[in-house]
Amino acid sequence: MKEYEKLLIQNKAWARQQADADPGYFQRLVDVQTPKYLWIGCSDSRVPPDKITQTQPGEIFIHRNIANLVVHTDLNLLSVLQYAVEVLKVEHIIVCGHYGCGGVKAAMSNKDLGIINKWLRNIKDVYRYHQDEIDVLPNEDDRLNRLIELNISEQIMNLAKTSIVQRAWKDRKAPYLHGWVYSLNNGIILPICEIKPGDRLDHSIYEYDLNED
Ligand code: CO
Repeated sequence: MKEYEKLLIQNKAWARQQADADPGYFQRLVDVQTPKYLWIGCSDSRVPPDKITQTQPGEIFIHRNIANLVVHTDLNLLSVLQYAVEVLKVEHIIVCGHYGCGGVKAAMSNKDLGIINKWLRNIKDVYRYHQDEIDVLPNEDDRLNRLIELNISEQIMNLAKTSIVQRAWKDRKAPYLHGWVYSLNNGIILPICEIKPGDRLDHSIYEYDLNED
């Protein structure tokens, strides 16, 4: 058996188990998708959103990329965000990073990694904004993990700076924005920051005039 074939075999076993335990299971999911959460997480294989939150298919709309970034020119992220906020009308957006993130670690180094330099550049900027706070920490792991936390907060602010989120705040007083960090060591998620609908941003230049249309 080729290694990848075990995925297909496991899939068949899973589908059978689901159908046996709950005969209406698949039909209910075919009919409707009403997730309350948009999850923006790291692509890291050790941080599977549904597994670590014990949620089921249909509960979380998911976008993942290296180091859980919200980049305001990323059409992929923006399309997911717009669909989640305007069509699915999610109540909560979670940016969940994780300690020991390889993407953030790479961004802290001076290595030339090719095309990914351009992606990690966003994290280097976060480091530059908070360099004083990070550099005083006594060891490399502490500095890495602090940047990981600050990066999550920055991505939460990046969400709040989009007209997509600001319009939804105005129209329906949602979504709430939550910054979380996951620990690979013990499997626990720690909330680290939150922005509520209508909260003022760190600088008013990011607040759009949203007229009725
Ligand atoms: Co990561």
